Order: sequence, then C-alpha cells, then structure tokens
Amino acid sequence: MNNTAKRVKSVLITGGTSGFGLELARVLLNREWVVVVMGRSIPGFQTNEHRFSFFKADFSNLAETAKVAEKICKYHSFDVIVDNAGVLSPPDFRMTGDNLEYTFQVNFLAHLLLNELIVSGCHRDIQLKIAAIVSPVYKIAGKDLVATPVKSEYKPYKAYSNSKLYLALMCSYLPAKYKNLRLNCFGFNPGVFRSGIYRNQKPWFRIMYKIAAPFMRNPAKIAGKLADLIEDNSVLSGSIYTSRKKPAPVPSMESLTAELFWKDCYKDLQKYL
Ligand SMILES: NC(=O)c1ccc[n+]([C@@H]2O[C@H](COP(=O)([O-])OP(=O)(O)OC[C@H]3O[C@@H](n4cnc5c(N)ncnc54)[C@H](OP(=O)(O)O)[C@@H]3O)[C@@H](O)[C@H]2O)c1
Repeated sequence: MNNTAKRVKSVLITGGTSGFGLELARVLLNREWVVVVMGRSIPGFQTNEHRFSFFKADFSNLAETAKVAEKICKYHSFDVIVDNAGVLSPPDFRMTGDNLEYTFQVNFLAHLLLNELIVSGCHRDIQLKIAAIVSPVYKIAGKDLVATPVKSEYKPYKAYSNSKLYLALMCSYLPAKYKNLRLNCFGFNPGVFRSGIYRNQKPWFRIMYKIAAPFMRNPAKIAGKLADLIEDNSVLSGSIYTSRKKPAPVPSMESLTAELFWKDCYKDLQKYL
C-alpha cells in the first residue's frame, strides 16, 4: 500500500473578495486547494470550509499591505500567488497615502511588495508560482516606464494599461532576480468579462457597463482556465497566457529604462523589505 499522502496545495489570491478572484477561489476550493484571499471587504460568498481564509488589506496603503503579508506568512506558505486585485483607473487623478498614483500602487506596486515579502518571508521548500492578472491593454502601454506617475500627465486609460504592463514585466524581472529560487512567474490575460470593476467610474460609464454586462463573458469560466494553468507544471515562466491562444513572451524593454524603473520602484518599497 502507498502511504504517501498527497500534499494539499495552497494559493494566495489578492482581490479574492469579488469578481474574477472570487470565482478562482471557488474553483480552487472545489479542486481541494487551501485558499487564502485578500481584499478590503468581506468575500462575497459564505463557506464553512476550513481550507478557506480571508485577510483584510488595502493595497493603497503599503504599510498595511506589508503588515498583513507578514501576518499571512506566519500561518501559510504558498505554492501559488495570484496577483489579481485591481481597479479600473479613477476618472480623476488620485493619490494614495503613500504619495503614489492610485492605480500604479494598487494594481502593481503593492503586488511587487507582497511578492517580495512572500518570496523572502514564507518558509518554503516548494516551487512558488506567481500568476499576474494582466489585461488586453498591457500591449498598448507606453514603453516609457514611469514609476512616479504625475497629475499633469494623468490619463485613466494610460494609467491602467501601464499598471498591467508593469505586472507583465515583473514576470520576467522576479525570476531573473531570484535565479537561485525555483520561481515561476507568468501573466494571465483574461480578456474582457463581467464584474464589478466599473464601480469607481462616472455614472454614464456605470450605466453603459450594466447594459453590456449580460453580453460579456462569465468570469467563472475564465477562472477555470487559469486554474488549469496553475495546476499545469509545464507553464512557461516569463510568458503571458490567455484562455485561448498560445503564450506570448513578456514584452522586452530597453535595458537602461527598465533598470531605472525597477530602481525607482524599490525606492518606494525599501522601508518594508
Ligand atoms: N473585468 C474585466 O473585463 C477585466 C479584464 C482584464 C483584466 N481584468 C483584471 O482582473 C482583475 C480582477 O478584476 P475584476 O474584473 O474581477 O473586478 P472586481 O470584481 O472589481 O475585483 C477586483 C478585486 O480587487 C480588489 N481590490 C480593489 N481595490 C483594492 C485595494 N485598494 N486593496 C485591496 N484590494 C483591492 C477588490 O476587493 P475589495 O473591493 O474587497 O477591496 C476585488 O476583490 C483586475 O486586476 C482587473 O484589472 C479585468
């Protein structure tokens, strides 16, 4: 008889309280994973499942994000992190308490911080996979990587697409930085689907979104595709996957521009690392 028990796998999903993150949490719970979700509000579903837990954190506050990451690491070590929390950029320029543009921090920088703290903080002897949720618009972002977006140049659409490009770039940056670790980082472009992502937009946008929502894709189906990738050992680090096409490589950047960008990002994170 084989006495080797199958190890239960563990995932951390940011923004697991609603939309795509919540659907992914459901799928992975059904596949017997231990699921930890982060977000600001109580998760939008009830479960008594002991494999599920929730940690409250606001990514527009880096100190809070770091504190919660430390707490999570006391109780868990992860096979997978899903960098999913995100907002559509607010219509008007908004700063966080950390003096950074809101979308840049919530969608990207807080995830870089969280990933760093988990890579260095959680005790591990298992391979870590990071799945970063990008968007179709990462492809149209500017190549002038800006770690300190300013009000005078603020365009919501640009702020959002830039934040997604930076997440994509992180998928080649982190594995290169941690060559000694078995770190697999890939992007997942879910395409467009219905969710609550329109909440902080202007009233006309919210009305249009609600009209279009019934014709948009169901996030539960797309979450199943990501769950398959999460469980697939042949996923290529440094690639961007979709639910349909073959993976594409992370866009390449001019090396000096990239170097300065990462330096600026880590300046903001220094005191938490
Ligand atoms: N919907 C689409 O068509 C689409 C397309 C491409 C990519 N995406 C990406 O998919 C991801 C999930 O979005 P969704 O469409 O499922 O939207 P959603 O339902 O609004 O989910 C967003 C999640 O992010 C969390 N979040 C937002 N602000 C946060 C903050 N300041 N601190 C911590 N957590 C925060 C939210 O949790 P709380 O409210 O509890 O904080 C929520 O769980 C996002 O990264 C989005 O950019 C969406």
